[in-house]
Amino acid sequence: MLTGMKHLHSTLAIVLLIALVISIIVTLMNYLNNKPYNRKIALIGFISSHLQLLIGLIIYFVSPLGIQAFSGENMKNSLSRLYFLEHPLMMIIAIILITIGYSKAKKITDAKKANQTVLIMYTIGLILILSRIPWSTWSILA
Ligand code: HEM
Ligand code: HEM
Repeated sequence: MLTGMKHLHSTLAIVLLIALVISIIVTLMNYLNNKPYNRKIALIGFISSHLQLLIGLIIYFVSPLGIQAFSGENMKNSLSRLYFLEHPLMMIIAIILITIGYSKAKKITDAKKANQTVLIMYTIGLILILSRIPWSTWSILA
């Protein structure tokens, strides 16, 4: 089950990165050209991030690198710390920002402001995600 979940988490990571880039680029275009806010495009990044959150949480409680690795000893090891603390925490913060951006934009009637909200929150979210992906050990890249 863990192996399947890890493959899914790994594949979804790529889907999420592409989805966020698409959401951000299309929203940027709409913002610059004074076009209406496109909620469906923002939804692509939003749903991908929620799906990844769910799978990530499951892995966190099953994997030996997740909550089971929580110890003072592992705190001193930067790779262990990335897996049991920094990666999950930063990803959750990023997904919260994306959720806030999407939810706020949904209620804004001014297109320019709605585009701006998604643009800012999604871009910060993407940067946070990129900062804590385990690049050096990611099975797809290795
Ligand atoms: C740990 C798992 C999850 C948590 C904590 C979570 C949390 C949330 C929260 C707080 C909202 C409300 C956002 C708002 O104010 O509009 C929301 C909405 C939503 N979530 Fe999730 N979610 C999770 C998993 C998922 C999954 C697995 C999916 C689907 C693949 C999903 C799809 C959606 C959709 C479609 C909405 C509504 C979007 C809309 O308002 O148009 N979520 N979720
Ligand atoms: C923005 C969302 C996320 C992205 C893009 C992401 C991406 C990744 C990637 C690329 C890996 C490496 C997989 C591999 O080496 O095959 C990984 C591993 C992992 N992720 Fe995430 N992740 C996200 C969210 C989360 C969340 C929310 C949690 C937990 C709450 C989590 C927990 C883990 C754990 C425990 C591992 C290590 C699994 C293992 O090798 O046993 N991730 N993640």
